[in-house]
Amino acid sequence: MTTREAGALVMSDARFSKDIRNWGAHARGEIPADWPLLFIVEGKGLLTTDGQTHRRLRLPVQRAISPRRVQALRPRIEAVTDRLLTELAAVPAGRETDLLSGFALPLPLEVICSLLGVPEEGALREELRELSAAAMNSEASVEEVQDTVGQRFPATLLALIGQKRARGDRDDLTMDLVTAMDEGELSEAEVIGNLVVTIIGGHETTANLICHAVTGLLTHPDTLAAARKRQEAGADGDNPWSEVVEEALRWESPSRNVMFRYATEDVAIGEDVVREGEAVLVPLPAIQRCPHAFPDPSPDVFAPGRADASRHIAFGVGPHRCPGASLARLEAEIALSRLFDAFPHLRLAATPAPRVPSLGINGYQKLPVHLG
Ligand code: HEM
Repeated sequence: MTTREAGALVMSDARFSKDIRNWGAHARGEIPADWPLLFIVEGKGLLTTDGQTHRRLRLPVQRAISPRRVQALRPRIEAVTDRLLTELAAVPAGRETDLLSGFALPLPLEVICSLLGVPEEGALREELRELSAAAMNSEASVEEVQDTVGQRFPATLLALIGQKRARGDRDDLTMDLVTAMDEGELSEAEVIGNLVVTIIGGHETTANLICHAVTGLLTHPDTLAAARKRQEAGADGDNPWSEVVEEALRWESPSRNVMFRYATEDVAIGEDVVREGEAVLVPLPAIQRCPHAFPDPSPDVFAPGRADASRHIAFGVGPHRCPGASLARLEAEIALSRLFDAFPHLRLAATPAPRVPSLGINGYQKLPVHLG
């Protein structure tokens, strides 16, 4: 069994539960009360439930990011991309700039905020970005996590809901969830939990996908030149950026670890056995560099169009598979094609580093570039 198959098994096999009641060490009281992640893994939401409860929580989110709604977002994504590129063009020639904070992060943040109907005016969008980053910081103390995830994030979202009710807003993901709550399908805590997962999942990961793809292309100029040439040729149905995006997802998974699952019985994985009650993380970046699953060329090589590209599992597998995959792909494709059109001489100003200190997110803190 390859490590890729092992990871897929853990994510899709019903013997691995997301329900914390199946975690032996937790049930025995062995997890220290000041473990910062406790607050997150004990939370109730999409990523901590199984079966019928999970399906009930997932349905409204899945509906809101259906392929039809995602396609309808295309003009909005293009407009935000162009606005950000225009702002970047104002950076004085020769000055180093951070492509993460100036482009890769605000793009998916704006898109997810549009999907959620977060007003453009005011500071709420920026506040949600700060709260997401704080929630994903694995170096935070237990008090900081409790303050962010337990207090400030829910309070901000409840204020948003109140504001939207007062404005009579309809037809966005927040109000879909609120309607489900008003009809008794979801509790208030479940609405908040869904919003938090969608906000964090909806922009941190996509921002890293864009950064990894840009890094891959800038460190492989021939690959970038070939993609641009194909774009210019414009052959029907040929989308070079889609291959780049798939390979970036494989080469540098935007998720560092897919969060805890607990074995409900002893499960054999190849020659190993995960014992009943044990907790398992799925380390996607390592899995997607597995030389048995991605043999040719070597998995360390960034090679868009590789024959085994579609075998990556960056969006997960099974009932929790990412419902935002098509949105993330569309955003990244639009971002790349327009970025290199606007700045054909873009180059890295330094090797991107350091990485974000997060158990869940695989990304850089900065992507320093010269726009050219
Ligand atoms: C490159 C971008 C993205 C990556 C790599 C990614 C990755 C993932 C992965 C691996 C999971 C599965 C977690 C598990 O099995 O425990 C997941 C779940 C999820 N993602 Fe994404 N995601 C991305 C973008 C998005 C976007 C754009 C949205 C929303 C608009 C989103 C919303 C969600 C939600 C709500 C879940 C929970 C699904 C469930 O538990 O049923 N993600 N994502």
